[in-house]
Amino acid sequence: MAVLFMKYRHAILKVRQYGLLKAGQILYRKFFPGKYPQAINIEIMTICNLKCRHCRVTYHGSLIKDVKPAFMKFELFCEMVDRITPFIKHANVFQFSSIEPLFHKDIFRMMAYVSTKNRNMLFPILTNAMLFNKDNLRELFQRNVPSISISLDGCQKETVEAFKTGVSFDRVISNIRLLKKMAPERINIATVFVATRNNIHELPDYITLCADLGINEVLVNGFLSFLPDHSHLYLYTPQGNNDVSDIFKNTYAQAEKHGVIVRFPSLAAKPRGCDLSSLLCIDEKGNVAPCIFLAHETPLELFGKVGRTRKLIFGNVLKDDPLKVWNSRDYVEFRNKLRQRSLPRECALCADGHGVICSAKELTPGSMKKNSLWGDK
Ligand SMILES: C[S@@+](CC[C@H](N)C(=O)[O-])C[C@H]1O[C@@H](n2cnc3c(N)ncnc32)[C@H](O)[C@@H]1O
Ligand code: SF4
Ligand code: SF4
Repeated sequence: MAVLFMKYRHAILKVRQYGLLKAGQILYRKFFPGKYPQAINIEIMTICNLKCRHCRVTYHGSLIKDVKPAFMKFELFCEMVDRITPFIKHANVFQFSSIEPLFHKDIFRMMAYVSTKNRNMLFPILTNAMLFNKDNLRELFQRNVPSISISLDGCQKETVEAFKTGVSFDRVISNIRLLKKMAPERINIATVFVATRNNIHELPDYITLCADLGINEVLVNGFLSFLPDHSHLYLYTPQGNNDVSDIFKNTYAQAEKHGVIVRFPSLAAKPRGCDLSSLLCIDEKGNVAPCIFLAHETPLELFGKVGRTRKLIFGNVLKDDPLKVWNSRDYVEFRNKLRQRSLPRECALCADGHGVICSAKELTPGSMKKNSLWGDK
């Protein structure tokens, strides 16, 4: 029985988080996408409470000139939500920006407004955990929040603070403890560890720290280099990386010992597409792009090649019919490429499209196999 539980614990966790019906729906929609996306992201802010040197958000208003750091007004958000109401009715998951949702003063009003359109909508939270307090956590727990994933890129104060500019390791740890104390059982609490040359040696001990904190799941992500100056940090190559693969194996053993679920990215980069083919991504101006990297001219570096994405915008939800935008021939073709694991040319420099950041991991209820954990198959 215990062996069976360990084998299927990821699936069990997802069913506990989403409920059997919703988990089944998400799995079904993975294979039969239908007319509408499963998930929606509206970029409710272009500004962050931290200024991590390695993060594209820090370049808004400077290297990424066409984005002014700001918060979206509640009224504009409601207008967008009204325009995409049929999408909201059909989707399972709604994300409030790819930045720091708790930094927006209207976040709970926004959640409430989306819930008036679909009361079953799920709001997973990805956060740096710096802004937690008893009040906003209590508010979060009253919403349909299935998971809270916290960035924690090491188990040593020096390592974490050197990487995430402005973060306080002690505050993040004490906020995780507060979260654990207050959170209902149904909420999956995960940490995200962005693996680099500077922190990879900490990964096995990191699992012990996470087990001590009561973390259910550790998501190991690869590092994506926006600027050539950061390219020495990533650990993947086109052929893989045996040393890091050994560290992953030790980490996995450590995680099994502690009963923590851990997910790894591939270490061998090859064009595979990403898992954003069922996400409606709307930027701060209402533009629809396949992802936030393609909504703006984002600098990228991969294996010595340097460039910027060309904006790939299929329409604007404030001006165009959102359903026509989503189902336009070019956009459907683009998503089909991603789904069929071939990389559109616009994504050539995106490491996530090469399976080495987060997309190729097994995160959804339908994919519980361990077979792609140790690099390429
Ligand atoms: C953009 S942040 C948004 C959520 C929140 N602000 C945070 O830091 O967790 C989402 C994730 O992207 C990661 N991230 C930022 N820059 C990255 C990079 N260059 N390569 C890989 N992951 C990165 C963060 O560490 C975090 O886990
Ligand atoms: S906290 Fe998150 S969104 Fe903000 S700058 Fe750092 S990685 Fe980027
Ligand atoms: S592969 Fe990268 S650039 Fe292309 S859609 Fe996915 S995340 Fe965006």
